[in-house]
Order: sequence, then structure tokens, then C-alpha cells
Amino acid sequence: MERKFPKDFYWGGSVSSFQTEGARDEGGKGLCIYDVRPTNPEFTDWSVAIDAYHRYDEDIALMKEMGFNFYRFSICWSRIIPNGDDAVNEEGVKFYSDLIDKLIAAGIEPMITLVHFDMPYKLVKEHNGFASRFVVDCFERYARVCIERFGDRVKHWMSFNEQNLHGMMLRVSNAEKVPEGINPAKHLYQVNHNVFIAHAKAVRALREMQPDAKFCGMNAVTNFYPATNTPKNNLFAWQAYQYMNGFHADVFTYGKYPDYMVAYLENRGWMPIFEDEDEELLKYTVDYIAFSYYRSNTLTEGEFDYKRPYHEIVGEHTIKNPNLEANEWNWEIDAVGFRWTLNELANRSHLPVFVLENGIGWREDLDENGTVEDDYRIAYHRDHIREMKNAMIEEGVDCMGYVTWGPIDIPASMCDMSKRYGFVFVNRTNKDLRDLARIPKKSFKWVKKAFESNGEDLA
Ligand code: BG6
Repeated sequence: MERKFPKDFYWGGSVSSFQTEGARDEGGKGLCIYDVRPTNPEFTDWSVAIDAYHRYDEDIALMKEMGFNFYRFSICWSRIIPNGDDAVNEEGVKFYSDLIDKLIAAGIEPMITLVHFDMPYKLVKEHNGFASRFVVDCFERYARVCIERFGDRVKHWMSFNEQNLHGMMLRVSNAEKVPEGINPAKHLYQVNHNVFIAHAKAVRALREMQPDAKFCGMNAVTNFYPATNTPKNNLFAWQAYQYMNGFHADVFTYGKYPDYMVAYLENRGWMPIFEDEDEELLKYTVDYIAFSYYRSNTLTEGEFDYKRPYHEIVGEHTIKNPNLEANEWNWEIDAVGFRWTLNELANRSHLPVFVLENGIGWREDLDENGTVEDDYRIAYHRDHIREMKNAMIEEGVDCMGYVTWGPIDIPASMCDMSKRYGFVFVNRTNKDLRDLARIPKKSFKWVKKAFESNGEDLA
């Protein structure tokens, strides 16, 4: 095997609409959940983000300069269908259509995420988000509108960002109202099921409308180490991996709930209700498995009891790994764990895998020379690219690409502008919008060299 990345390997960046666009009241956009959800008063709000709505020409030029050939962005549902159940907003369609054309003109292949945690507020207020099958149908209509308008040019699609999180947090499905008399875990897994059905309906739509395009399933993946070498600790870490990561990857790939998950849910009385069409719908499987990877986790010995959902128990047993460095937010840096994860997902699914988010968050501001010397970021990406190459060459993993998170600084997921991931500094803080100028950091030149050499020059 040639010890090189394939010639058609993707290198690029990934973002969400609410973390980039701003322009909250422009272009006919309706109210979305991020417009009304309170943020930590020490942070910012989502009204401006990095103003990409008005500045994407500049951002595309920077991505081109960094050697990107791929860009994954999410569509803000309420720019396309402002309240989720009303008429299509042509201004919103035009905004994304122009963005797509400009990316393609710059030699950057676009990928669409239909829902990155965000959705029209009306669907949340009146229907409790994805707790409702009506919302599932609204999502299918939205997916069909996007495929109809953009599918001629966009060949990579995904429905939900980090879909496995829907099995762990009602917040991402915007279904936080637990109906009276229903066990909260049962509600959680029913909502998670509804999201699987929404995803499957979008896959079906793509197969019907753009059969040459690709659809993936995407998860937020962390691998788990047992803190000790007791057999029980090892079993617990393996079970945690299955529930947190394997469950969704298996449904995406094999079109049904895996046996370990049916047993887990049935034993606890938490199996979701399947409507008549659901088994058939789940058979709309994906073309590849995509994932975000930032860190690994280490777990003490534990047991999955019958009272609390799996993610709560995993949370209680997570400890610091003394063998790994971490950033300020205690995200432990583990490039070898990345290699392990690539292998695990590829061997589980027998499908290609695609890294759609990777990066390191760091507190930064401009130094006296007007830049940011982010050697830690260069080291992080270098190590992860090396381990990805090892997985591909030493272990034969079929990986389609390496896409970095937030390549031009954006506020972190909790709306904190002090946690940055970019190769380009955006000149604003949580409280001061400054001039929002885009200023290359030290890593800008490094990533340009790495990507333009197709991953050969990592020095
Ligand atoms: C992923 C999300 O979970 O991780 C992004 O898809 C998020 O929206 C990213 O920004 C990094 O997490 P954080 O909390 O550091 O922004």
C-alpha cells in the first residue's frame, strides 16, 4: 500500500449556522430556538456570532488560502421555513444557494447539515420539538425543500449533528418538557427514536430525489478507558462505548436497533413506541459513518442500573486520566485514542468513515505582535493527522477526510467566545464586538502547508 493519503482525500472545516451567521433578524428568518434560549451572562448571545452572514466571501477566500477542498455547514431551518410549518422563504434559499455557488467556485465541496441542534422556535413552543411526530413530518418537508433547491450541487448530506447526543440530552432535540406521568428516561428514548425516524425520512428523500448524492450518520465519539485493570471496569467501559457510540452507528449502518440496545431498553421498560412504518423506515441506511472527535474519557468501575439512563451513570464515573494532558476545559488530548476510534467505527460498520470535527479549544487573544502563537494547536492537529494516517495505512481504515472544527474562530457551543478553535483569529470578545477582523494565527501557515501537501508536510 502506498504510504500516502488518497488523492481525493478531503481536508477542510466544519461549522454550524448559529455559531457563525449572526443576522438574527435579517433575510426573512423566523425566530429560532437559539434566539430565545438564555445564555450564561458571562458569555455573549448569538445575535452576531462572527457575522458570517455578511462576511462569508472573506471567509471562503481564507479557507481557499488554507488549502480547504471541503466545508461542512448547517442550514438554519428558520431561514428556509421561518416557523417550521409555513411557506418557504425564498430569501433564505437564495442566501444558501449563493453560499454554495461561491464555495464551489473556490474549489471547496459543500456539505449540508440539516439540523445542528437548532430549529424554529414555534415547533418547540407549540410541539415540544422532536417529542412530536408532527415535527418529524415538518423536518421531512424541510429536508425535501433543501434537497430540491441545493441537491443539484451538494453531494454530501447529513440530517442531525452528533445524533447520538439525542439519546443523552433532551436539550438537543428541544423536547425538554417531559409529559406528566411519563418516566423521563422513557421520554428521552422516545424522542431519540423520533429523531432516528426523522433522519431515516431524510435519507429516503435523498435516495428518491438525488440518488447519486451521499448521506451519512454522524456521532460525537469518545472512546473510554477503564481506570483500572479489573475485568468489571473493562466491561463497564465497553458497555459505555456501546450505548454512547455503538447504538447510533449500528442503527445508521444496519437499519435496526442492535440486540444489546433492545435488551437494555426492554429490561428497563424504556423501549420506545414504534409506529407501523418505523421498522421499514429504519432500513434507509447510510453511505458512510461520520463523527466528531476531540478527546477520550476514562471511567471507574460502575454498573448500569435500572433507574438512570446510561449517560448519567457514565458521567458519574468519569475521572481524569493521569497519562494525558488536557486543555483548560479538561478535554483530554488523545491522538492515539483517535486512531483506535477510527478503527472501531470502520470495523463495526464496514463502511467508509469521515472525520467531520476535530480540534482543540483554547483561550486566546492577540499578542503584542498582533497574532496568536498557537503551537499547541499545531501539535494537536499534527498528532491527530499522523494517527489517522496510521489507522489508514497500518490498519487499512477507509477514511474519506479530515475536517477541522471552527477553522475561523466562532463562539463555543455554550456561546463562549473565549474558547476558540480556529487557525484564524476573529477580533471580538464575549462583551466587545471590536471590528470582527479575521487575523491569521501561527497555525494558519502550518495548516495551509499540511492540507496543500495532501497531509505529507506536517513539519
Ligand atoms: C461539537 C458541536 O459538539 O463540538 C459543536 O458539534 C461544538 O457545535 C464543538 O462547538 C466543540 O464544543 P465546544 O463546547 O467546545 O464548542
